[in-house]
Amino acid sequence: MVATDNFQMPQGQAPFDLSAYLQERQNLVEAALDSAIPVIYPEKIYEAMRYSLLAGGKRLRPILCLATCEMAGGTIAMAMPTACALEMIHTMSLIHDDLPAMDNDDYRRGKLTNHKVYGEDVAILAGDGLLAYAFEFVAVNTRNVPAERVLQAIARLGRVVGAAGLVGGQVVDLESEGQADVSIETLNFIHNHKTAALLEACVVCGGILAGIPEADLQRLSRYAQNIGLAFQIVDDILDITATQEELGKTAGKDLQAQKATYPSIWGIEESQRQAQKLIQAAVAELNLFGEKARPLIAIAHFITSRTH
Ligand code: FPP
Ligand code: MG
Repeated sequence: MVATDNFQMPQGQAPFDLSAYLQERQNLVEAALDSAIPVIYPEKIYEAMRYSLLAGGKRLRPILCLATCEMAGGTIAMAMPTACALEMIHTMSLIHDDLPAMDNDDYRRGKLTNHKVYGEDVAILAGDGLLAYAFEFVAVNTRNVPAERVLQAIARLGRVVGAAGLVGGQVVDLESEGQADVSIETLNFIHNHKTAALLEACVVCGGILAGIPEADLQRLSRYAQNIGLAFQIVDDILDITATQEELGKTAGKDLQAQKATYPSIWGIEESQRQAQKLIQAAVAELNLFGEKARPLIAIAHFITSRTH
């Protein structure tokens, strides 16, 4: 993973090595995900679940959850089951998003999509299996966290999956496809629910597990909403400017599917400016966490500088 650390650090402070930080946590997450789902009978479904869950990816969502928990005074171990669950939820949403009934995509993370390998029937079930297991995994495996915090995190996960989150965003996205006059409000609704909500859940769950006060959770929530929207704007730009090899999925899809995107409404330059503005607003929410916020600040800047 390439991580550019091209932002101004306060004077006298050594630059934060984001690449090393991400790599180290990515390895931890990868190992935890790998051991989370052993292959037992009926092998086919576990293999299909593992195929997409272990297909690589930046693991940004689990890393955000771990980073927030640590920043808020908790440990990596306290947040790891929830971090894995968030990646399971993210992966299942992509398996279903790629299905012929939705975006009908052949490639994801540089590999054939789940339904291309296992068939539509198994891909639907692999998504369902990952979704159910995500909740079980948090409830069964979280240690050294008071039960009411675990319950609060599980409630948050449920909310982000359903019609108030991913499902709601996806429905409006599907409805808007091919429409010429999608407003910026509708576009924001789609991405606040489809993309930003899950990133927000990652950060907020990390805070909840560490037992952060409500006012600070609100700050974290605003940080995450801002980076979530910036993330989507950058995604839309990359769909135009990056190649299939860089993206690991089909490039130029939005134009082909006549999807309204931020660049289609604002143009590329203005979209870049808006993404930068959102990142600045996100970072400002973290002031009170001081030094401890360096990983989350660096991740916010990484989002706008990424090339894939
Ligand atoms: C990718 O969007 C898709 C998502 C971010 C989430 C889609 C949500 C669902 C399919 C609902 C999932 C169901 C549950 C129960 C959680 P995209 O098509 O804009 O991006 P892409 O180019 O990466 O495919
Ligand atoms: Mg898609």
